[in-house]
Amino acid sequence: MLFLREVNMRGDIQEILLTGEEIQAKVIELGEQVTTDYQGKNLLLLGTLKGAVPFIADLARAINLPLEIDYMAISSYGNSTQSSGVVRILKDLEGPVQNKHVLIVEDIVDSGLTLHYLMDVLRQRKPLSLRVCALLDKLRERVKPVELDYTGFRIPNQFVVGYGLDYAQRYRNLPYIGILKPSVYQDELQEPQRHHQSRVEEG
Ligand code: IMP
Ligand code: MG
Repeated sequence: MLFLREVNMRGDIQEILLTGEEIQAKVIELGEQVTTDYQGKNLLLLGTLKGAVPFIADLARAINLPLEIDYMAISSYGNSTQSSGVVRILKDLEGPVQNKHVLIVEDIVDSGLTLHYLMDVLRQRKPLSLRVCALLDKLRERVKPVELDYTGFRIPNQFVVGYGLDYAQRYRNLPYIGILKPSVYQDELQEPQRHHQSRVEEG
């Protein structure tokens, strides 16, 4: 059964929201903006594991500047289609950021809780500047307010997967972003023991 579902990932997608080509065109645009804005600055791209990995890999190559890349992993507790608001650091940066201009690279901003927490933590470390580049901005009321300096796409308030975004750790490898059929997660909520879904969900 598991095998059948994995070969048929497209069958779990209700609608393709953004094609691979649309995403790549936007990433090039964002890369050009960042290149203009960070001329002569000591830039650190800070990716959030695991969801932002494809995005930061493509964005970094679209930025024509010397830069560093590092990652943080933030956990949020809750079921896998809704954040609960409890967050903590699972993996931290390798070094201090006082002499760096930090640009957070996020896959998606939903409630705003993860980013709000991350920005609080980083502000205390006094980087030269702190800004955010989010590929997706979900159109919904935020639980915590966050300001996005660079935004790829504003998307409807639906659960999406692909290009790094997961449901229960799957679908990250889809080259496009699509709306997941609600039946996929409704099935799993009825049969939670069928999967390895843990209470700690890494973005
Ligand atoms: P927030 O803390 O509610 O803003 O959620 C941010 C994190 O929740 C993201 O980095 C993702 O890991 C996850 N997330 C939120 N919405 C979605 C979605 O539609 N698909 C997949 N993951 C999502
Ligand atoms: Mg994430």
